[in-house]
Amino acid sequence: MGMANSVRSVPIPGSDAPGRLAGPQGPGHKLFASETRFVAGAESLAALPPPSLPEVAFVGRSNVGKSSLINSLTRRKSLARTSSTPGRTQQINFFSVAERLMLVDLPGYGFATAAKERVAAWQDLLQRYLKGRVTLRRVCLLVDSRHGIMPLDAEMMKLLDTAGISWQVVLTKVDLINATLRQAHQNAITARLSRHPAAFPSLMFTSSEAADGMVELRDMLASFALLPRE
Ligand code: GTP
Ligand code: MG
Repeated sequence: MGMANSVRSVPIPGSDAPGRLAGPQGPGHKLFASETRFVAGAESLAALPPPSLPEVAFVGRSNVGKSSLINSLTRRKSLARTSSTPGRTQQINFFSVAERLMLVDLPGYGFATAAKERVAAWQDLLQRYLKGRVTLRRVCLLVDSRHGIMPLDAEMMKLLDTAGISWQVVLTKVDLINATLRQAHQNAITARLSRHPAAFPSLMFTSSEAADGMVELRDMLASFALLPRE
């Protein structure tokens, strides 16, 4: 009660729900103030948990910061395992946020030193998950802000478009770039996204290290969550 008056009504960046209340006390804050729990780690399609909650998946190159972002969002140090060794996350990991939304940490691609057959097996699992998951609402394609969009990211963009999955770009590690590069990404990547039919047009800038962009990202994610039980 009285909440609506104390919170500014601003559009949620990157969200499909313009006009919903957003910000430090917005829907994302409430959602992520609740318990997040690890649900399952799947190495095969058969091991996927049943599709019960709306899902948002994080994809991107190995080492881009997918697991770190999930930890930062949920304010947990090691909910998702992170590592300076690329290829750490080798299965599809599912995390339930307040039993209202599933966050999905996918195995990274472009990990050069893994055995060929293993890479092929992960890529196969990744593609089958992306194409077949009925509860998948949005894919966040994470891009390292130091490198921008790399050839394998471009391939993933094509795959997402072809599969008709709604996706968006989330830049990571923005604590490591300057304002000039940030502006350059804003211009170039936004222009590029406009040519992708299934892409949400705006970019998000995040740093797990500096907790930058987390409020916006949580609000965007909350727009896909089941409504809280009263
Ligand atoms: P895979 O599981 O191998 O696909 O990697 P991942 O995408 O899950 O990356 P992970 O979260 O394990 O992070 C990889 C490395 O990047 C780690 O050393 C992190 O500490 C570092 N890192 C992640 N996010 C940030 C960030 O926002 N800023 C900085 N400076 N480093 C980060
Ligand atoms: Mg990982």
